[in-house]
Amino acid sequence: MKTRLDAPVGIDALAVAIPHRYLDLEDLARARDIDPAKYTQGLGAREMAVAEPGEDTVSLAASAARRALHIAQLDPRDLGLLIVGTETGVDHSKPVASFVHGLLGLPRAMRVYDTQHACYGGTAGLMTAVEWIASGAAGGRSALVICADIARYGVATAGEPTQGAGAVAMIVSSSPSILELDVGVTGASSTHVHDFWRPLGHREAQVDGHYSVECYLDAVATAYRGWRARAIARELIRADSPASEQLAALCYHVPFCKMARKAHLHVRRCDLEDAAAPWDPSTESLRAETHFRNQVEPSLHLCARIGNVYTGSLYLGLAGLLHTRGDLARRRIGLFSYGSGCTSEFFSGLIGPRASDRIAAAQLDSLLASRARISIDEYHRLMALTAPLLEPPPPGTFRFTGVDAHRRQYVAA
Ligand code: CAA
Repeated sequence: MKTRLDAPVGIDALAVAIPHRYLDLEDLARARDIDPAKYTQGLGAREMAVAEPGEDTVSLAASAARRALHIAQLDPRDLGLLIVGTETGVDHSKPVASFVHGLLGLPRAMRVYDTQHACYGGTAGLMTAVEWIASGAAGGRSALVICADIARYGVATAGEPTQGAGAVAMIVSSSPSILELDVGVTGASSTHVHDFWRPLGHREAQVDGHYSVECYLDAVATAYRGWRARAIARELIRADSPASEQLAALCYHVPFCKMARKAHLHVRRCDLEDAAAPWDPSTESLRAETHFRNQVEPSLHLCARIGNVYTGSLYLGLAGLLHTRGDLARRRIGLFSYGSGCTSEFFSGLIGPRASDRIAAAQLDSLLASRARISIDEYHRLMALTAPLLEPPPPGTFRFTGVDAHRRQYVAA
């Protein structure tokens, strides 16, 4: 079959859904008798989204998807593929995508399924959609890719301040207003490790926290070097200067904001170690800080206020970057997706000419502003699942209302 690797394909619209409640991390730190600076500076986190019983992975995914379809003004009959990347689904068999397909009334004649590999599941969906379109198999149709998760480690655990929840929905098409991917120019890294997992039947993840940070850094180095070699071979970047400096910005998977900083310093180190020229560690540390502040930090402000969204965190970073920087049109950025266990991918793309308008349409500021801050007692009730369902549901969202004859029920507001 004739393929179209050089024809544009990528993200045309993006929308976010988040829980309507959040906990301020200074309140959490005081309740745990911990210096708040450990959370705010040590982890780089300010607030954490807390899902209520009516806000499950399906309701968040469907709410984000409805907004994305509206922003793209896409006729649902032009969709041929719906993939939900999630590691916190609601059923052992029926995928979240199937619920979303029904709630949005999408056409029958399309593929509908979930993808799972920890936080990488959404990127697996995005890559499948992009390559489906680039191969020509899509026949002009678009794809809906949703990353939706509720990140829970449990009360008074080391992972507690890195919880969060939300969904990012993306329309993937051959007219990518937001991000045109460099199809086929990616680097992957996978190893069988037990850094983070969630045994069947458990709501909370198990994690070997410090080891998981090491696994992430190990993965980003291999994936980045793989991407760099392909990007040089395709002449997207030059071989004679550090690749990371040729990217206008970088977005990383963000389990907590400090992790993106660690990852970025590691990527720079890869460039310096692999360069033939000697480098001076004393001047590099200042350059690396400046580089981080300009090229990575703008992507972190949404993540710092929502927390980890597992599959969605990288794309929340992308949304945050475009929301903060309006100067990126037609410039190349790098993205790193990490799924514990582990698999990962570094990839790149060109920011589309209408990216700023598209992100403005996602109304991210009003989404954050419409949330309510909860007390530590309310947070404990929500974690123990003893809080009542919120009535009535906020407009524009879907809500889980209960189980009837083993069937999950939802309402649209
Ligand atoms: N003021 C300022 N900073 C402080 C401080 C204070 N009073 N006290 C501590 N800090 C700093 C520490 O120096 C440290 O910074 P560095 O990492 O730069 O050294 C930081 O705050 C964290 O302190 P600790 O390492 O002592 O924290 P901890 O042991 O309680 O736990 C953690 C940290 C392991 C990341 C834990 O939050 C955790 O397990 N999180 C969940 C796992 C995770 O997110 N892993 C990331 C990689 S895996 C992945 O990416 C997949 C995924 O989504 C889960």
